[in-house]
Amino acid sequence: MTTSQQQSRPELRERIRGALESQRTDKERVPSITVLSSLLAVQDDLHYIPDEAIEETAIFCNATINDVWSVASFYTNFRFTPPGMTTVDVCWGPTCHLMGAQKVLDAVQDELGVDSEETSADGKITLRYSTCLGACAQAPVIARDHVLKGRANPDSARQYISDLQQELENGIAH
Ligand code: FES
Repeated sequence: MTTSQQQSRPELRERIRGALESQRTDKERVPSITVLSSLLAVQDDLHYIPDEAIEETAIFCNATINDVWSVASFYTNFRFTPPGMTTVDVCWGPTCHLMGAQKVLDAVQDELGVDSEETSADGKITLRYSTCLGACAQAPVIARDHVLKGRANPDSARQYISDLQQELENGIAH
């Protein structure tokens, strides 16, 4: 059962509205509220953009559904399906690329049995590509739910995914 199915639609809308409203009290991070900042606020909270978020963002920003959808579909970082239980980011930014990120990415994809930014067949781990995880000095970098692991190589990346799968299997991952 997916996150969206577990959460009733009214509850989901409430959570989306809460994420949108939170921008008003975070002036440092969100100096001006836009359709883009609103979609980012929702994705930060839910880790994806459900259909309801398009509608709620349109209402919140006094924009049309088309306006919101055109912004949401333009940026490749937005995802429209619920993520797995945990997310693994692999950086393929310039520094990581030079330091061997492609081989790390190949190893991670192979371990997860995916070909691109997808969720593993068991629904547990979602792979995302990052353009920079902000730790270039430790390139190549991978991260699990924003916790970084630097100086990765194909073997350590395979082990990392294997350990994570084991943790999730045993129900001890957080
Ligand atoms: S380019 Fe990978 S962490 Fe910056």
